[in-house]
Amino acid sequence: QSSDKQFRIGFSQRTLTDTWRKSMLASMKQELSFHPDVEFIVKDAQGQSATQVKQIQDLINQRVDLLIVSPNAAQPITPIVERAYQLGIPIVVLDRRTASDQYTAYVGADNVEVGRTAGLYANALLKGTGNVIEIGESPGSSADIDRHRGFLQILKAHPGLRLVRKLEGDWDKRSFADELTQLIQSTAHIQLIFAQNDRTALKAHAVCQQLGLGQQIKIIGVDGLPGRNEGIDLVDRGILDATVLYPTGGKEAIRTALAILKKQPFRRENRLLTTLIDSTNVRIMKLQNEKVTEQQTDIDRQNRNLENLTKTYTSQRNTLYFTFAS
Ligand code: FRU
Repeated sequence: QSSDKQFRIGFSQRTLTDTWRKSMLASMKQELSFHPDVEFIVKDAQGQSATQVKQIQDLINQRVDLLIVSPNAAQPITPIVERAYQLGIPIVVLDRRTASDQYTAYVGADNVEVGRTAGLYANALLKGTGNVIEIGESPGSSADIDRHRGFLQILKAHPGLRLVRKLEGDWDKRSFADELTQLIQSTAHIQLIFAQNDRTALKAHAVCQQLGLGQQIKIIGVDGLPGRNEGIDLVDRGILDATVLYPTGGKEAIRTALAILKKQPFRRENRLLTTLIDSTNVRIMKLQNEKVTEQQTDIDRQNRNLENLTKTYTSQRNTLYFTFAS
C-alpha cells in the first residue's frame, strides 16, 4: 500500500452499474481531488448482499481508517457494519440505511419524504381519485421500504386513490415488464404509475407506449439526474409527469468522512433535501445544471493550466539550478 497517503477510506457500494451511482462516485472523486492525502478503495457488490458482506470484511481486514457503506439491503448488511463499528472503524452510511443505529454518521435524503412527495403529486394529478400502480426499488432496501411507506401514508389519507398493486422493480436478471403489461391489461383504468426510480419510470413508459396508453397513464419517477434520458430530460420531454430529486450525497459523504478522520466537528445525521420536478420548474433545473457543468469545465481547464505552469516553472528552475551549479 502506498505509504505517502495519510488516510485510507474504503467505500462499499451496492452496485456501480447505473448512472445514479456513477454520478455519486464522480462527485466523491471530485471532492477527493482536493485531498491527495487520501487513498480511496472502491468495492462494487454488483447488487449482491452476500458479495457486499465479503467486501466489507475485506476492507476491515485491510484496516481502512474509515468505511463508507451504501447497503444493498438493510438486514443482510447490518451485522457486518455493526462488527466494523464495534472494531472502532468509523462508519459513514450513505443513501440506503442498515437496520441499526451503530454508525458514525449518515448522509442521505429522507425516503419517506420522497414517497410522500410522490403521493401528494399523484393526488394532485388525479384530483383525488384513481387507480395507481407502484414499482419498487430492489426488495429489502431501505429506499424501497421507506418510499413505499411515505407513498402509502398519502394514499391512506385520500381514500379515492387506490393502490392496485406494488410490483418489484428490476433487480438481478428479473424484469417487471411482462407483469406490468398483464396488470394494466387486466385492470380497468390504471391512471398513474409511481416508479421508485427514473430508470424504472422510463421502462414503465415503454410498456404503456406498447399498449397504446402512452398519453393516458401518468408516471412519476425518482432521482432527477441531468443528462439525456435521465429524469430532468424525461420530464422536459413530457415522458414523465414528474420526478422527485434524490441527491446522491457523494460529496457530502467525503466531506463528512474527512471531518471524522481529521477529528473536526461533523453532524451525525446529514439529511439532504429533495424536491419535486415537473413541467413548471424543469427548465430552471436544466439551466442550473448546464451552468454547473460549464463551471466545472472551467475549473478543470484552470487546473490544467496551473499544472502546465507548475511544470514549466519546475523545469526552468532546474535549468537555472544546473546552469549555476555547473
Ligand atoms: C441507484 C438507485 C437510485 C435510487 C437509489 C436508492 O442504484 O436505485 O435510482 O434512487 O439507488 O437507493
